[in-house]
This record gives sequence, C-alpha cells and structure tokens, in this order.
Amino acid sequence: MAAARTLICALVWILSVAEGKVPEARVTCLFSEDCVLPCTFKPAGQTAIHWTRQEFLVHDFLNGSDWLDQQHAHYSARTSLFPEQIANGNASLQLRMCNTQDRGRYRCHVTNENGNQEYFVIVKVEAPIRTLALELTRLSGPPPPDSLKPTTRKMATQNGLYSVESKLRKLPAKPSDGYTYFCTVNSSYDTESWRASLREKELSGEEGGALTVPCHAPTPLENFTLTWAFSRADEPEDILTFDSRTGHTSNRWAGLARVDQNHALSGDGSLHLQNLRNKDHTGTYTCNFSAPRSRHLEHTCVNITVLAADRSLTAGSSWLWVIAILLAALALFIAALVLFRKMKAERSAVGKPAEATEMQAVQADERENGIPSESSHLTKDQTANEST
Ligand SMILES: *[C@@H]1O[C@H](CO)[C@@H](O)[C@H](O)[C@H]1NC(C)=O
Ligand SMILES: *[C@@H]1O[C@H](CO)[C@@H](O)[C@H](O)[C@H]1NC(C)=O
Ligand SMILES: *[C@@H]1O[C@H](CO)[C@@H](O)[C@H](O)[C@H]1NC(C)=O
Ligand SMILES: *[C@@H]1O[C@H](CO)[C@@H](O)[C@H](O)[C@H]1NC(C)=O
Ligand SMILES: *[C@@H]1O[C@H](CO)[C@@H](O)[C@H](O)[C@H]1NC(C)=O
Ligand SMILES: *[C@@H]1O[C@H](CO)[C@@H](O)[C@H](O)[C@H]1NC(C)=O
Repeated sequence: MAAARTLICALVWILSVAEGKVPEARVTCLFSEDCVLPCTFKPAGQTAIHWTRQEFLVHDFLNGSDWLDQQHAHYSARTSLFPEQIANGNASLQLRMCNTQDRGRYRCHVTNENGNQEYFVIVKVEAPIRTLALELTRLSGPPPPDSLKPTTRKMATQNGLYSVESKLRKLPAKPSDGYTYFCTVNSSYDTESWRASLREKELSGEEGGALTVPCHAPTPLENFTLTWAFSRADEPEDILTFDSRTGHTSNRWAGLARVDQNHALSGDGSLHLQNLRNKDHTGTYTCNFSAPRSRHLEHTCVNITVLAADRSLTAGSSWLWVIAILLAALALFIAALVLFRKMKAERSAVGKPAEATEMQAVQADERENGIPSESSHLTKDQTANEST
C-alpha cells in the first residue's frame, strides 16, 4: 500500500501559467492524505499572507504569526504554512487529510513592501482505489445473467466516495482442476490496474501418504504475503504464512506442511503435505497471495481417502477379534464342563465311554491354543495400521 501511494503522490502538480498576468497552478490531492498548495512571491519586509477559497478564509498569516480566529470551520486544524520558508518567498499552504470538499480554486494573496501579489491554485481531489476483494457468496436477490456477464453497481458512500460491486455467476460445470475467475479494476487517472483472481479445484490424497496442493499466482508478484489456511466445516485456521519482503515463514503445521520459499518467490506457492490422515486433513485448503494491487485466492477441496484394502482389513480384524474371544470363552466353558462331568463320572465310577469326552476336550484345547495367538497377531497389525 505504501509503495502504491508513493507512486501516485509522484504525480504531483503541474504548474501552468494562465493567459493573464495571474499565475495559476493545478494540484491533484489524494483523499485522506496531505497536500501542498504552492504559492510564491517576491519577498520584501513585513509579509501578510491570506489564503481564501471563494468567500471562505482558509488561512491568515500576519506579522510573523498565524491568525486563525476567522478561519472557516471546514479547514479547522488542517492548515499550516512553512514559516521558515516565508522569508524566501514561499507562501505554500499545507492541507492535511484532504477530502472531496477541498476541491476548488484557492487564492493566495500576499502583501509586503512590493505591494500586492496574487496566485491561484486549482485543487482536484482524487481517491485512489483502496482495496479490492473477491469473494464467493450465496445468491442474494435476482441472480446475475449467465454466460459470464457481470452486473456492476456503483454505490455512493459518505465523503463523496463510492464503492463498486460487480457480480458474476459461477459456471455450473466444475472441471477438477477448476476455472480461474479474474476481476480487474482500472481507474481513469491511475496507470496501474488492480486485480483479484479466484480459483477452485479438487484433489484427493491417500491416508498415510503425501500430497502437493498446487497454487500458482497468475502473474509474477512482488512484495506479497502468501497464506495457507485450512478449514473443515468450521472457521479456517492458518497453516502457514510466508512474507516475501522479509523471507520469513511461520508454520503452524511444521513437520506436516511446507512451502518451498524459492518457488514461492517465483509465484509457485504449492503446499507440500505429508503423513496425511483422513479425519484431520480432509477439508478445504485456501492459498492467499496478497500483494499491493493484486490478490489471488485458490480454494482446493482435498479428500484424503482410506485405501479400500486398509478398510476391509481393519473392519475384518475387529470382527475376527469378537469371534476369537467368543470361541475362546466357549472353549473354556466346554473344557470346564467336560472336566466337571469327568470328575463326576470318576466319582460315581459307573462306566460311560471315556473316549468321546476326551475327544471333545482335545478339540476345545486346540481352539483355545490356536485362536488367541491368531488374534494377538491381528492386534499387532491393527496398531501398525493406526500408526501409519
Ligand atoms: C505588527 O507588529 C508590530 C510590532 O510587534 C505592531 O506595531 C504592528 O501594529 C503589528 N501589525 C499588525 C497588522 O498587527
Ligand atoms: C515551499 O516550501 C515547502 C516546504 O519546504 C516545499 O515543500 C515547497 O516545495 C516549497 N515551494 C516552493 C514553490 O518552493
Ligand atoms: C486495465 O489495465 C490493464 C493494464 O494496465 C489493461 O491490460 C486492461 O486492458 C485494462 N482494462 C480495461 C477494462 O480498461
Ligand atoms: C516492493 O517493495 C520495494 C521496497 O519497499 C519497492 O522498492 C518496490 O517498488 C516494491 N515493488 C512493487 C511491485 O510494489
Ligand atoms: C488474504 O490475505 C490478506 C493479507 O494477509 C488479507 O487481508 C485477506 O483478508 C486474505 N483474504 C482471505 C479471503 O483470506
Ligand atoms: C472422498 O472420497 C470418497 C471415495 O472416493 C467418497 O466416498 C467421499 O464421499 C469423498 N468425500 C468428500 C468429502 O468428498
């Protein structure tokens, strides 16, 4: 912003001498900034300076000091001369915080031992574009026509300024790598134009894997900040910010996300993610390149998918677990029952076929031994899955 302002300020005023004897200057002042209205005279002795605009008194200087009790309220506390310059014949007026009502023809009248001298300054006030924002909103009111025809409205605000809003309906079809929408604003007196762009796309990654979420500024940028934010359904949280002026990166997802600074400086702000997890990293990633007079936003919907094989294994193993526990319990129960019957039979000592019961017991033993070891193997697998 500061850089942009300096540029406009450099447009300064163009001196021009009118047809007649009275010199006249044209000054373009910038809204809410300070402005100098030039006035020069041939110095000689005691000097009285009288700045007026039509019938309004803007500033009076007499006998070495300012006389402001007659000053018009509109200029109150906003004017000053350069006292140390007056002896050199410089009666220029400084006007602070210019507003659109400051426009007009100012008269600088100087009286000294050379007599009366007068000078006119035509003041124009311009308001350069302050900001440009591009955003996605839901339709409110009548929808703008299709086929990429924007509807543009100018709205007057207080202070004689206005804001401009232009709406465009998004294209219905959405290719996976998205469309880029541009909004450009040129003002009649400004040589540079402002531009905002927006892109939406979709990507998918795999659980446990790595993914690069691309983001490219459409034109090379200077003095920008790059911000990556992430949101699920909730408010976006900042992941990472890179400032091209300081070269400083602050990263809240350190170890998980990074941007290559050299690539970023040449407009490639792609985010490299690793150790992806479905539940933590599925959501919308927003890349925000913000430079003076230029902004680029890129929304990427990222879906981290769990591999089909992983899912069936995880689901299957938890099933097996339950069966294994049930079988083990059943086996124990049968073994206990058999043991109990056997003891009872031995005690009564009356002949029942011992072979059959022993077979049952062996089968139960096999189950008892086999299944728990298998299920502990599965447990290990499951933990391994979860930690990847
Ligand atoms: C200017 O100041 C001098 C001495 O300080 C005084 O004699 C004179 O009247 C003053 N002139 C005006 C216009 O106030
Ligand atoms: C008068 O002085 C001011 C303050 O030093 C300076 O900015 C301005 O350019 C000077 N004007 C002229 C015409 O010399
Ligand atoms: C706005 O300015 C840019 C660059 O100065 C130029 O390329 C573009 O054509 C202009 N657009 C309009 C609508 O004047
Ligand atoms: C970037 O900032 C530097 C230093 O403030 C300035 O000299 C340069 O003109 C700026 N570039 C742009 C494109 O604003
Ligand atoms: C983009 O970043 C700029 C500067 O940090 C900020 O002012 C702006 O609000 C951000 N825009 C969005 C949509 O997050
Ligand atoms: C993510 O992808 C899976 C499989 O392709 C799909 O079933 C799911 O609906 C997707 N989720 C989102 C939020 O797009």
